[in-house]
Order: sequence, then structure tokens, then C-alpha cells
Amino acid sequence: MDLLLLIHIILVVSLIVGAPQANAWGKEGHFMVCKIAEQYLTDKTLSAVSDLLPAAAEGDLASVCSWADQMRFRYRWASPLHYINTPGVCNFNYSRDCHNSNGEKDVCVAGAISNYTGQLQAYGDSSNGYNLTESLMFLAHFVGDIHQPLHVSFADDEGGNTIVVHWYRRKSNLHHVWDVSMIETAMKDYYNDDLSTMIEAIKMNITADKLDQWETCSGKLATCVNQYATESINLACEYAYKDVKQDSTLGDTYFFSRLPVVQERIAQGAVRLAKILNEIFDGSSVDTKLRLSTAARAIQI
Ligand SMILES: *[C@@H]1O[C@H](CO)[C@@H](O)[C@H](O)[C@H]1NC(C)=O
Ligand SMILES: *[C@@H]1O[C@H](CO)[C@@H](O)[C@H](O)[C@H]1NC(C)=O
Ligand SMILES: *[C@@H]1O[C@H](CO)[C@@H](O)[C@H](O)[C@H]1NC(C)=O
Ligand SMILES: *[C@@H]1O[C@H](CO)[C@@H](O)[C@H](O)[C@H]1NC(C)=O
Ligand SMILES: [Zn+2]
Repeated sequence: MDLLLLIHIILVVSLIVGAPQANAWGKEGHFMVCKIAEQYLTDKTLSAVSDLLPAAAEGDLASVCSWADQMRFRYRWASPLHYINTPGVCNFNYSRDCHNSNGEKDVCVAGAISNYTGQLQAYGDSSNGYNLTESLMFLAHFVGDIHQPLHVSFADDEGGNTIVVHWYRRKSNLHHVWDVSMIETAMKDYYNDDLSTMIEAIKMNITADKLDQWETCSGKLATCVNQYATESINLACEYAYKDVKQDSTLGDTYFFSRLPVVQERIAQGAVRLAKILNEIFDGSSVDTKLRLSTAARAIQI
């Protein structure tokens, strides 16, 4: 084979393989959300979750939290389930915004969370027609996604994907900075390049007060999900898009002021994922149990 052609093929393949994943917290972000969530699951929830996980997960929810991103080429239909587009405004309105590009209703990350929660409520009823392993892996992923501010953001710039920026000296785009780069830079600068150290730091910061506040949501699941989406679009406007233009260079100033938002959204995503899973698999008295199990686990440490 022609050497140039070979080099070309290798380049193209490595580009495809190494291409940043569009529209998702990166692998690390999703892993952290699920890993932290695991800590808040009641025993009953944990056993249902392990029952549903694929064998390869070896009982660890976090190991399959990026499954939905790995499936994006095979499950093309699921692609619009990872985000919400607003028409360039800093607020979220379910009936206006939760649809795909063909206008099909409920096809967005908020609709998907309700969809897969509903399916999982049929756990134990063997006649349900769903693959609940997939439902669980989708749900765990989408609760993470809806907490990434640029997953609920403007249609025109595709959630920051078309905003080219430099992250320090590297060319990137704004969406990728929020999915991946800020987490990577934080890992290098503060956490010795070790994900579990970063996870511990985020966990330590979740006080009982915050836990109460983040868990609390009056009303049905749909209302809570709308609240998570509203928080994200607000943060997108106040932090992610703020002071950023095409070709901006983002460095220390941006990083230092935005990293706390990234870390807090990961923590909130985790607490809410645990809350949703406990409600599905462990019924009504969940709030008390969640707190009890948290207390019990805290004492164990
Ligand atoms: C949300 O959008 C729908 C459809 O565009 C509109 O009818 C409704 O008034 C909006 N709700 C609010 C609170 O703005
Ligand atoms: C709901 O889940 C089913 C099964 O995976 C899927 O076919 C459908 O597209 C989902 N819809 C939404 C809005 O998530
Ligand atoms: C359910 O989905 C998982 C993940 O895609 C797959 O490995 C498994 O074979 C599916 N189970 C059935 C019964 O189709
Ligand atoms: C802990 O909370 C403080 C105050 O909200 C925040 O500035 C900091 O970034 C947080 N750290 C982590 C690791 O979450
Ligand atoms: Zn995603």
C-alpha cells in the first residue's frame, strides 16, 4: 500500500477513535456522578441495581455510566435524548423545548429521564416489555447529562459545540471544555491525576444541608426534572457562555471561576440520581432511608 495512503488512513482512524464525544460529560464526569450516587443508595436499591446491571459491570453502576455515549452511533434514535436546545433564551420551557428536530414531543433529556424512570418502575413485573438493563444505563447517564449546563443551552451554537475556543493553548470548543477539559485540568492541577482523589474531594463537600436542599423537590418527578434543566440553562448563561466569543482563549480566570460550578453539578447529579433510584426501587419512605443510609455509611468511614 502507498505509504501516504496508509498514513492518511491511520490519521483518519485515530481522529475518529480519539474524537471528543459531543454532547456529554466525558467519561470521567459520568463516572464520578454514578460513583458518588452509589454511596447514597439503600440496600434494597443496590440489590435491584446489581440485579439489572450487565455481568461485565461486576455490580458497579459507575462502570456503565458512559454506555449511552458508546451507543450513539448504533442507537442513532437516542442521540437527541442527551440534551435540550432552547431558542437562544436563558430559560427552559418543557413544551417549547423538549422535542427533537422533527418536533416530536418529549424527545429530549428531560423527557428521557421520565421515560426511563417509568420503565424501571415496572421492575419485578416480568411481563414488562422493556430491557430494564438498558433503561437503567440510560437513566444513570441522562441524570448526569441534564446537570451539565451546556446540555441545556442554545440551539444555534449546538450547546457550545460550534464555539471554537482555546483551552489554554489547545484548540477546542466550549462544549468540550465543559464535558472534559475542566475536569482534566482539575485532575492534573489538584488531584494528582487521580479520579478517586477528585471523587473524594467532591464527596467531602456534600454537607447535610446541601443534601437536603438538592434532594428536595416538591411535586412529581417531571417537576424536579424541569428544575434541573432550569438550573442548567441558568448556569449556562451565567457561567459557561459568559465572556466567551468565537476564538476566545480561556485560561486561569475562566477555569478558577467555573470549576466550582462543574464540581457542584457533578455532586448534585449524583445526589439526584440516588434519590430517583431509591424512589424507584425502595418506595415511599425514601427520604428518611436515604439520610439513614448516608449517616450509616458516614459512620463506617
Ligand atoms: C411555554 O411554551 C408554550 C409553547 O410555546 C407556550 O404556549 C407557553 O405559554 C410557554 N409557557 C411559559 C410559562 O412561558
Ligand atoms: C423511551 O424508551 C424507549 C425504549 O428505549 C425508546 O424507544 C423511546 O425512544 C424513549 N423515548 C424517550 C422520549 O426517551
Ligand atoms: C438488554 O440490553 C443489553 C445491553 O444492550 C444487552 O446486552 C442484552 O442482551 C439485552 N437483553 C435482552 C433480553 O435483549
Ligand atoms: C467545595 O465547595 C466550595 C464552596 O462551594 C467550592 O468553592 C469548591 O470548589 C468545592 N470543592 C469541590 C471539590 O467540590
Ligand atoms: Zn450524554
